[in-house]
Amino acid sequence: MRFSLVATNPLAPDWLSLPGDANALGEGLWPSTTTRNADGELVIGGVTASALAAEFGTPLYVIDETDARGRAAELRTAFEAEFARIGTSARVYYAGKAFLSTEVARWMVAEGLNIDICTGGELAVALAAGVDPARLGFHGNNKSLAEIDEATRVGVGTIIIDSPIEIDRVAAAAARHGRVQAVRLRVNSGVHAHTHEFLATAHEDQKFGVVLEDAPRLVAAIRAEESLRFLGLHCHIGSQIFGVDGFAESAARLLAVHAGLLSDGPVPELNLGGGFGIAYTSADTPTPIRELAAGLADIVSAECRRRGIPVPAIAFEPGRAIIGPAGVTLYEVGTIKPVDVGGATRLYVSVDGGMSDNARPALYGADYSVRIADRVSRAAPVLVRVAGKHCESGDIVVDADYLPADVAPGDLLAVPATGAYCWSLSNNYNFQGRAPVVAVRDGAARVLVRGESIADLLARDTGVSTGSTADGVSTGSTADGVSTGSTTEQKDILR
Ligand code: LLP
Repeated sequence: MRFSLVATNPLAPDWLSLPGDANALGEGLWPSTTTRNADGELVIGGVTASALAAEFGTPLYVIDETDARGRAAELRTAFEAEFARIGTSARVYYAGKAFLSTEVARWMVAEGLNIDICTGGELAVALAAGVDPARLGFHGNNKSLAEIDEATRVGVGTIIIDSPIEIDRVAAAAARHGRVQAVRLRVNSGVHAHTHEFLATAHEDQKFGVVLEDAPRLVAAIRAEESLRFLGLHCHIGSQIFGVDGFAESAARLLAVHAGLLSDGPVPELNLGGGFGIAYTSADTPTPIRELAAGLADIVSAECRRRGIPVPAIAFEPGRAIIGPAGVTLYEVGTIKPVDVGGATRLYVSVDGGMSDNARPALYGADYSVRIADRVSRAAPVLVRVAGKHCESGDIVVDADYLPADVAPGDLLAVPATGAYCWSLSNNYNFQGRAPVVAVRDGAARVLVRGESIADLLARDTGVSTGSTADGVSTGSTADGVSTGSTTEQKDILR
C-alpha cells in the first residue's frame, strides 16, 4: 500500500513537528536501555520487540527494570541530597496506584523507597510482596472500616486522614489493636496544577482532603486521641506537573499553617505529594528531578527561615515519574485505513489493543507517541492515528504521530511512556482479556503479571457451565477446559 500526502498534513496538531526520521527514538521518551539493533529492531532491556511479541503475544506491557529502579534511586538520592543541604531529611513513597505488582513493590523497597497505597487491594499486594508494613502510607478519601481495621491491625506506618470522620475511625481501630497510629492530615492547599500552569484559589471544589483553615481544629482533635500520633500535613496538587511553581506555592501555604500548629505540639513532617510530570511526546519538557528537588528545598528552606521555624522532614509520593517512562506497550497492526478529512488524509492504523489496555487517551485526551518496533523504514513520514479494536470511536491509542508511510499490517508498534496508569486502569471492555506485564533486564524477560485468558473472562459468570445451558446451547468445555497455564496458551487463546 502506498499513501500520498507524506509531508506536512493540516490534520497534524500544532505541537507535532514533521520528523526528519520517523524511526528515530525521541529523546527522553523511551526507557533508558532502549536502542535499535543492527536490524533496526527496538531492543529494550536487551530483548528485541519481536522476541517479546513472539513469546508473550500482543498487546504486551513491557517494563524496563533497570530504568524503573534507576529512576526510583535517582529520585530518592536527589531529594535526600537537596533536603540534606537545607538541614533535613526527605522520604520518598512510590505511589502504587501508578502500577503495582509484588515484584515492583520489592524493587521500590530495595531502592530505599516506601510505598503509598490507597485501597485494601493495594495493601494486600504490598503485604504479599513482603513489604514491611511500617513502610506503607495508606491514602483514600473513603477508606472502608474494614480497610482501616486491616491497616491498623497489620501496622501500616502512616494513615493519611482525608476527612474529619476518619479521625474517630482510625483512632478507634488503632485502639482496638493496641497501637498508636501515626497519621497525616490531607489538606487542600487551594493550588491546582496541571502541566505548565497552576491555579491558586482559596478553596477547591473537590473530594480530597480538608480545607486548610480547618486544619488547626482537626489537628487538635487528632492530638486529643491517645491512639493517634500527628505527623504533619499532606497535600497533592495534581498530576503531570512541570516546573516547581505549583509545588512552591502549595508548600508555602502549608507551611503557614504548619508553623501555627507548632505552638501546640510537634509537627515533625510535611508531605508534598506526587505529580511530577514526564514526557509522553516530543512536545513535553519535564523538569529534571534534581532541579525540582533543588527548587523545592530552596522554597521550603526560605519559608521556614522566614517564619523562624525548624525545617520539618519532607515526604513525597511520585508514581508516574518512576514507572511511567520505564514502560512500553507493544501492539500488532491489524488494519490500515486512509480516511479523507476535508481533503486531507488521516491514516488510521488499528492495533490489537486499545482503551482496555490504555484508557488515558479516552479518559483524559492524553497524547502518546509511536514507532514501528520490529524494523526501520526509509519511507517518508506519514501522519497516523493509532486506533484500538474496541467498539467505540474514542478508542484511540495515539491521536497523532508520524510513522514511515509503508507501515503495514503485521508490523509491531511500540508506544512509550505507558508504565504508569495504563495497566492499573486496564479493563475488560468488550471482553478483551487484560494484557500481561513483563519485565526486561540484561537480555531476559519474565512475566510480572500474567495476562487474562478466555477462562479468566468466563470464570465469574455464574451461567457458564461445562455441559449445556438451560436453553440448550452447548458451551463445550470453555470455562474449565481452557488452560490458563502457559503464556503461549494465553497468546494463542486471546491475541
Ligand atoms: N499521592 C496522591 C495522594 C495521589 O493522589 C497521587 C495520584 C499520587 C501521589 C501520585 O501522582 P503521580 O506522581 O503518579 O502523578 N489516572 C491519572 C492520574 C491520577 C492520579 C491520582 N493520584 C492519569 O492517568 O493521569
